[in-house]
Amino acid sequence: MSIHPIIKMGHPTLRQVAKTVAPADIDSAQMHSLIADMIDTLHDAGGIGLAAPQINQPIQLAIIEVPGGPSRYGEIEPIPLTVFFNPVLTVIDPEEAGYWEGCLSVPGLRGFVYRPQHVRVDYMDASGTDATLELQGFLATVVQHEFDHLAGRLYVDHIRDMTQLVFEDEWLAQQTPDLVD
Ligand code: NI
Repeated sequence: MSIHPIIKMGHPTLRQVAKTVAPADIDSAQMHSLIADMIDTLHDAGGIGLAAPQINQPIQLAIIEVPGGPSRYGEIEPIPLTVFFNPVLTVIDPEEAGYWEGCLSVPGLRGFVYRPQHVRVDYMDASGTDATLELQGFLATVVQHEFDHLAGRLYVDHIRDMTQLVFEDEWLAQQTPDLVD
């Protein structure tokens, strides 16, 4: 296992549509090794999600791990470490809410992004088995952010008001300390 460098906005891989992983290739030693490296890389960076393109592997693979607990958006439910291959996202309710998003590939910045708040994800897990998750609120935003990476999109593409793209240190300076996420 090893920590990989995380590529940043400007690297062309972040703007490619990632390739679908053949089901027969999912439950393989090579893929398990890549997943282990992504987990190490995510934990080292201190994020809640990492998509394979962010370590310059343009395939349809992302991991998400949300610790949950209190945040500036209220109590957030946890997502235990989950591996998503070839995820397909379906919007169940298009009603949107906005969150201040950050991204390991866009370090130092935060942007306010509106997204639908009730979605379903159909995907394959690390053993290549079909799985489904239904998510609401902040967690719906998290999966949309991660799966955007598999389509060559970044959260900055969704910002409607560019006064709401800010440096994280300035943003933190404006927050109530115990509500910072
Ligand atoms: Ni990101």
